[in-house]
Amino acid sequence: MKLTYYGHSCFAVEIGGKKILFDPFITYNPLAKEVDPGSIEADYIFLSHGHVDHIADCVSIAQRTACKVVANWEIHEWLNKEGVSNTHPMNTGGKWNFDFGMVKCVVAQHSSGLPDGSYGGNPMGFIFTSTEGKFYYSGDTALTLDMQLIPSWAEQDFAVLPIGDNFTMDVADAVRAADFIECSTIVGVHYNTFGFIQVNEEEAKQTFAKAGKKLLLPSIGETIEI
Ligand code: NI
Ligand code: MN
Repeated sequence: MKLTYYGHSCFAVEIGGKKILFDPFITYNPLAKEVDPGSIEADYIFLSHGHVDHIADCVSIAQRTACKVVANWEIHEWLNKEGVSNTHPMNTGGKWNFDFGMVKCVVAQHSSGLPDGSYGGNPMGFIFTSTEGKFYYSGDTALTLDMQLIPSWAEQDFAVLPIGDNFTMDVADAVRAADFIECSTIVGVHYNTFGFIQVNEEEAKQTFAKAGKKLLLPSIGETIEI
């Protein structure tokens, strides 16, 4: 699979010719000035939760590309009010077969209020299962014992986990999360965007390496084969 990193927790994965975008936050990301949100194509957008650093560019990209936006029930209703009608509501514990494969929504331990103060439901992570591979995106979350269930649903080829601390897991907890989900290839996200979440990239990679795992930190705008 191809994974493109757009900064913060925004990335895209291509499966079966479909481009699946996650948590679009580009316009207001000071580190992503080189990325033009107006040039990003998408067949789907998956939203882990309602916080502005995960949905700021969702409405504009969804309206331009006419992609389908998948999110929890409350965010789906909010998007409909914002003029995005091609949505698919889900909620924690549920799964659905899309044209690229199956997605199961799993627990994330975080919060989810929307930018205008609307109730944003519960945050979620996603397990993707397709003929091209399997992966888990945790969304913003603390380390949680619920992650131990994840390998029982699918063995992951890779996982995308936050590492920035303060709002989410730090590097050490992300290593433990990788143990819980029984996955040794991790893409780190949700770091360095703001002062609260500064991470030393080399130290983070070494911490994973000492645990026998690989931490990938693609540059903003970079596409990797994974
Ligand atoms: Ni958040
Ligand atoms: Mn966040």
